[in-house]
Amino acid sequence: MNGDNPPATAKPDLQGRAEIEQLVNAFYGKVRKDEMLGFIFDDVAKVDWESHLPKMYSFWETVIFGAGTFRGNPMAAHAKLVPQTEMGLPQFQRWLTLFRETVDTLFEGERAAHIKNCAEDMANVIYSRINGVPDPRFDPANLTPEQRERYSRYREQAAEAAQPSA
Ligand code: HEM
Repeated sequence: MNGDNPPATAKPDLQGRAEIEQLVNAFYGKVRKDEMLGFIFDDVAKVDWESHLPKMYSFWETVIFGAGTFRGNPMAAHAKLVPQTEMGLPQFQRWLTLFRETVDTLFEGERAAHIKNCAEDMANVIYSRINGVPDPRFDPANLTPEQRERYSRYREQAAEAAQPSA
């Protein structure tokens, strides 16, 4: 007898700061216990969690809800770690796996999907910039045949558009 209630398995979507806090707390709980990533936060960077967590609430609240409350420099924060520890593809992939898992455990919906996409985009940008390597999303080796074909069409169109018309 469920009446009009959603099925017991339905998860909420992100609604605002409260859900962002829940997500960030759960995510860093996992990260700190993770063999590949935990020590980077607690031993290498010696993160002050009392200030890092509220900063991350503001970061994600700004990304998803346009709150404008984040002040920081993510690129510099991560670049600083490169000479101190491994900040390669395996670390970023692990970070993303934990992030996606946390979102999927707690939330479902458009914003939940969007925050995972944002995280993926930013992970690729941060990873490639701090290591001075191409963004893996655009490495021709990682493109599907369909993407390769589509992108080459874009390039042709862009080249045509750049021609002065006769
Ligand atoms: C290998 C993956 C990653 C590791 C090991 C890592 C680690 C760290 C560490 C140690 C800090 C500094 C905390 C402090 O000193 O207070 C930090 C800051 C931060 N991280 Fe990450 N991070 C990773 C990936 C990401 C990704 C993919 C994002 C975005 C989607 C992200 C967003 C941020 C932001 C917004 C800050 C705050 C920057 C600031 O203080 O201005 N991180 N991260």
